[in-house]
Amino acid sequence: MAGKFITFEGIDGSGKSTQLRILADHLREKGVDLLTTHEPGGTPLGKRLRAAFLETDEEVAPMSELLLFAADRAQHVETLIKPSLERGRVVISDRYADATFAYQGAGRGFDEKVVNEVIYLATGGLKPDLTVFFDITVETAITRMSEHQGEGRVHNRMDRETTEFYDRVRSAYLGVAKSEPDRFKTIDANGSIEDVQCSVCDLVEGFLNS
Ligand code: ADP
Ligand code: TYD
Repeated sequence: MAGKFITFEGIDGSGKSTQLRILADHLREKGVDLLTTHEPGGTPLGKRLRAAFLETDEEVAPMSELLLFAADRAQHVETLIKPSLERGRVVISDRYADATFAYQGAGRGFDEKVVNEVIYLATGGLKPDLTVFFDITVETAITRMSEHQGEGRVHNRMDRETTEFYDRVRSAYLGVAKSEPDRFKTIDANGSIEDVQCSVCDLVEGFLNS
């Protein structure tokens, strides 16, 4: 496929979405043909799925959660990501398959093999060319989320998880950084918006120009 596929990952509150907006403005100013998107909810069907299972107080069984994230992703890959890459566009997605590996695998405790099989079914094996992992301490992320409550972010079921849950999710991401160092790059996301922005720009521009 001609385009480039970049994903942003990190625990909730790590600043991914903020940095994606800043980077997208910068790349578009430079004339990059860019599609920015996100999971869950990057397609019309995905938006309905997201509201049905994330923005609800109803108890959702762990297997339903795993498969709903997969359904959202299958629709995203087939109808938006693949066609955009085939047209040669740069696609940046706020979250993708590594989130399922970290949240449903390490977070919820699903067997790694099962999670990887479900990811493969949903993606047909499409992997990002580059993943930027926004690494932040769980304490800092939780402080940020509580300080900025009510500023337009829609609350969801995952926001109620424990510190231990986010510790497991973060450790799983750090494990991917070790096992796939060429694709999965870690940046320190504890600093100011401006500091993190510099690291993100250097990394992504370096990758796109390579
Ligand atoms: P994510 O998409 O990873 O959940 P957001 O980009 O939505 O994170 O950021 C979570 C909250 O923290 C937002 O209210 C945002 O304004 C704030 N924020 C983002 N980056 C920083 C930063 N570097 N320092 C302090 N606050 C930040
Ligand atoms: P969202 O509001 O998009 O959070 P963020 O801005 O932090 O990305 O909520 C998405 C939530 O869904 C977030 O807690 C991570 C979780 N998630 C999974 O558990 N598995 C997945 O495969 C994906 C894509 C997200």
